[in-house]
Amino acid sequence: MVLIAPSILSADFGRLAEEIIEAEQAGVDMIHIDVMDGHFVPNITVGPLVVEAVRKVTKLPLDVHLMIMNPEKYIQDFINAGADIITVHLEACIHLNRVVGQIKEKNIKAGVSLNPATPLSFIDEIIHEIDLLLIMTVNPGFGGQQFISSCLDKIKRAKSMILSRGFNALVEVDGGVKLENSIEIVKAGADILVIGSAFFSATNYKEFMRKLREQLNLIKFL
Ligand code: DX5
Ligand code: ZN
Repeated sequence: MVLIAPSILSADFGRLAEEIIEAEQAGVDMIHIDVMDGHFVPNITVGPLVVEAVRKVTKLPLDVHLMIMNPEKYIQDFINAGADIITVHLEACIHLNRVVGQIKEKNIKAGVSLNPATPLSFIDEIIHEIDLLLIMTVNPGFGGQQFISSCLDKIKRAKSMILSRGFNALVEVDGGVKLENSIEIVKAGADILVIGSAFFSATNYKEFMRKLREQLNLIKFL
């Protein structure tokens, strides 16, 4: 089954607890939290304090996407705050192997993310170590951007490389995912869909999830 991870970047932060409870009741699989530092990406969002607050309102896995420079400095803080999965950007890590090791030694799932222009081959020497490969399908920094369609082929190549080499990493797709393009993204090989603006702009999250699951269930017949 494809896992659905709403990104709280597009939630109403004034009612964050209610938003998360409603998302959970709608049947989402995890909560995606976008951490931005104003250096790796041009935007600034939230830190461990917000992860800790989210941890208090849900038992769903917390999928923390670090779009920050020097992520190694903050990994322990995010683990203490309650993260279940920590994803770092390959472009932000000089010693990626060390950072992945730092996450895994705490029994937390480790993810590595690639920007749209970063070649897939850059993960060749780390893919066997990670639990999740996050393929960015927009340039990271903001919610509500347009899916970069040339990334579809990268998703396909990532999935087939992982399968052919017998690795366990799940393929997560983040950026511009909506009801309308979810089928082609899952057909390309996504295991996890991050959905920000399309999810939180829906008037009824349960109805959004019902439509999405119905659509994704059709894939086996297509
Ligand atoms: C972008 C973030 C995404 C973002 C997705 O830098 O990593 O998680 O919230 O938002 P949408 O689904 O609106 O593109
Ligand atoms: Zn994200």
